[in-house]
Amino acid sequence: MTEPMIRLDHVSKRYPGARTFAVEDLSLDIEAGETVIFVGPSGCGKTTTMRLVNRLIEPTDGKIFVNGEDVGTVDADELRRHIGYVIQQIGLFPHLSVAANIGVVPRALGWPKQRIAERVEELLTLVGLDPDTFRRRYPKQLSGGQQQRVGVARALAADPPVLLMDEPFGAIDPITRDRLHDEFVALQANIRKTVVIVTHDITEAVKLGDRIAIFAEGGRLAQFDTPARILAEPADEFVASFVGSGAAVRGLSLRLVGELPLAPDSGAPGRASVRVDQSLLDALDTMLHAHTEVAVVRDGDRVVGELDWATVLRTPPGGQS
Ligand SMILES: Nc1ncnc2c1ncn2[C@@H]1O[C@H](COP(=O)(O)OP(=O)(O)OP(=O)(O)O)[C@@H](O)[C@H]1O
Ligand SMILES: [Mg+2]
Repeated sequence: MTEPMIRLDHVSKRYPGARTFAVEDLSLDIEAGETVIFVGPSGCGKTTTMRLVNRLIEPTDGKIFVNGEDVGTVDADELRRHIGYVIQQIGLFPHLSVAANIGVVPRALGWPKQRIAERVEELLTLVGLDPDTFRRRYPKQLSGGQQQRVGVARALAADPPVLLMDEPFGAIDPITRDRLHDEFVALQANIRKTVVIVTHDITEAVKLGDRIAIFAEGGRLAQFDTPARILAEPADEFVASFVGSGAAVRGLSLRLVGELPLAPDSGAPGRASVRVDQSLLDALDTMLHAHTEVAVVRDGDRVVGELDWATVLRTPPGGQS
């Protein structure tokens, strides 16, 4: 087993003057190249956990390691240059243009001007903002969703190995958000950064996450597992009610295997077997219990194709639509 990229080892945080813990005895390993989603009710310590990793605040107890190093012993500025951070309230510098905001870390790293300008152009295009229209604007001349996209571009600017994104897509309209999700998934398939995303949207969590951490009151970890396992085998009532109310589960239980585009049958051994008239949730459950991410699909006795787990999880919820 290689070293996790982020390790929280029995971490607690009590803010000065607070009677209760914001995070209590939290242990969590995030592997390099993994996308982990934090979800949970408001006030359960998600932002606090990110700020601890970034060393914007210090733990009351426990240790945090990034890439094997105890963050308590490394220079905080140096640490943050290797961690892209999208804060919950966006936090663009108001007196800097969009281009200057995105270029903050590359400038601190001493990149040449030309390289920074090219990177800004590339990132604005990536997040769907026309560079010629937006690079000279100031944050107050942008809508909330546009500011949020600049925040994402800024976090990506110096290509950090670790990205912490606190509700990065919350203020963005559903169509743009879907496009950003797809781009994120494609990007992650190539670059494999270690990414932590906070969201209140279970559908987003299921679509983007390799694993999902469900937080409960007081920063307690209620379940930390793959999307399929969390949907199919919630650890307790709290998790069940939290994900059970989500559109993702509703969508997966309403849609049938036969509605998805199937891949041609590969004939590979060791696959699970599902039927076209099974719900996607049942199909996931079947794959889960067979310990495989691929299933051969049958219509009666006839093999009609093959379905993989990622295709199921990336299916937009839509029920009967
Ligand atoms: N600077 C602070 N001083 C004192 N208490 C704080 C501070 N920041 C957060 N808290 C408290 O710590 C707890 C956890 O807050 P945190 O911001 O981590 O929650 P969250 O899970 O990110 O919530 P949300 O989903 O609403 O963003 C809350 O009870 C909050 O009131
Ligand atoms: Mg928060």
